[in-house]
Amino acid sequence: MSTDKIYIFDTSLRDGEQSPGFSMNMEEKLIFAEQLERLGVDIIEAGFPVISDGDFEAVQLISQKVKRAQVAGLARANQKDIESAARALEKAVSPRIHTFISSSDIHIEYQLKKTRDEVLRQAVDAVRFATSFTKNVEFSPMDATRSDRKYLAEMIQAVIEAGANTINVPDTVGYTVPHEFYDLIRYLFENVKNINDAIISVHCHNDLGLATANAISAIHAGARQVECTVNGIGERAGNTAMEEVVMTIKTRSDLMKVHTDINTQQIMPTSKLLTNITGVSVQPNKAVVGDNAFAHESGIHQDGVLKHAMTYEIMRPEDIGITKSKLVLGKHSGRHAVLTRLKDLGYELKQEELDAFFVKFKSIADSKKEIYDEDLIAILGEVLHRREHKWRYAVENVQISTGMSSTPVAVITLKDNEINSESVLDVAHGNGGVDAGVKAVKKITGTTAHIRAFNLVAITGGSDALCEVSVTVEEEYKGKMLKVFGNGMSIDISVAGIVSFVDALNKLDYMKKAGIKQNPYLQDGV
Ligand code: KIV
Ligand code: ZN
Repeated sequence: MSTDKIYIFDTSLRDGEQSPGFSMNMEEKLIFAEQLERLGVDIIEAGFPVISDGDFEAVQLISQKVKRAQVAGLARANQKDIESAARALEKAVSPRIHTFISSSDIHIEYQLKKTRDEVLRQAVDAVRFATSFTKNVEFSPMDATRSDRKYLAEMIQAVIEAGANTINVPDTVGYTVPHEFYDLIRYLFENVKNINDAIISVHCHNDLGLATANAISAIHAGARQVECTVNGIGERAGNTAMEEVVMTIKTRSDLMKVHTDINTQQIMPTSKLLTNITGVSVQPNKAVVGDNAFAHESGIHQDGVLKHAMTYEIMRPEDIGITKSKLVLGKHSGRHAVLTRLKDLGYELKQEELDAFFVKFKSIADSKKEIYDEDLIAILGEVLHRREHKWRYAVENVQISTGMSSTPVAVITLKDNEINSESVLDVAHGNGGVDAGVKAVKKITGTTAHIRAFNLVAITGGSDALCEVSVTVEEEYKGKMLKVFGNGMSIDISVAGIVSFVDALNKLDYMKKAGIKQNPYLQDGV
């Protein structure tokens, strides 16, 4: 039986990326967009072009590189934003302009300071203007779930008439609950005369932990596009998690009677790539992609799973791209064996990425005897997002001496690619190896940034486990507190910590150069 398709609209690079701590540089956005294509998403929302030069360029670059998926650019309902989105999308094979304005009285009165009639006219004008660049126009009535239903229906009917071919219904503040959202979508189907001329989409936030449930409910009511992010990243408590919606549709195909075109085996690699780029891990018990999602601890469950996996597993780990942890490689493994294993794991790399990967692999295999699949994926994430020559600072060497009754001391060699080509070396004492190393880095760079949080995970077991450190780093800049995450990976905990701090400094440097974003939700003067 053929089933309806649910279009997956990924907004990790827009709604996800705009939330504090998740910002990515251009190259990271491009790498991630390429992975989203591999994953099979239908639409990639690449950014909000008018907001900053960095966003504009990212949308432009992604538009040039992405061939199969549609590329969307966000725009408020005004000519300047829409023109900017249209320019950024000029080279896209399938561009989409996504324009929005609030429809709830609370936003209209207090934020926009307009009347309902004025806002409705503005929405229609914006959609009409957007259609002069492309016929692929999406419209979102922001805060739809707190809007007057009759007015919402009137607005949607008018923008479809003006040419919008996708209507997205956002639960902007994560306020609705599944049965109410179902009713709202049904109401729209029953009260908007031309509703069948557009695809109905939903965009849920997770403030009450209901984003996935609400999206699933909307599908039952007839929505055919879901806006979501990988790992559920996004404003405040995040957005609907892509992996949860996709795996609900797949696992409960008996009930859902719809399908997506997502290659589910790319779910885990995509999730891992994102955590590697942003330095933010998912909680261990996160549905589908958390470390414990397929771990069975209780005796009864273990017994059942050993007898038949489906006794306690509703999804197969391999369906989301989790491979059994096999011992595969070591320091004597040749290039061919390493690259074949990577391919088996679903990674097709370009030549320069393969070269960089192999260099890193060899350096780790020199000190770690057994390299597992998880190690390979971690090395890969590191290589893909940290091409040091493009960053300002590169760690050249870390030498640390610690002991129970001696003062820890670190000698750090760092290269500042901006100031000179010479490496700079400095020494510092500290309370432990990481602290000493961070102090030496501060002496070399003169940074005023400091570490707010420090997180350490071992990727595989054993005393020679590869470990990953992610740090939250803050720095005051032009009266604002900038916050970034940095990450580093090494067999040595102190080295990973120091590398993660330098990674954060690079991100701070990038943020300062790209300009700090305005608040994208600022609608004054639209
Ligand atoms: O949450 C929201 O309302 C949005 C819109 C711009 C779609 O992100
Ligand atoms: Zn949103």
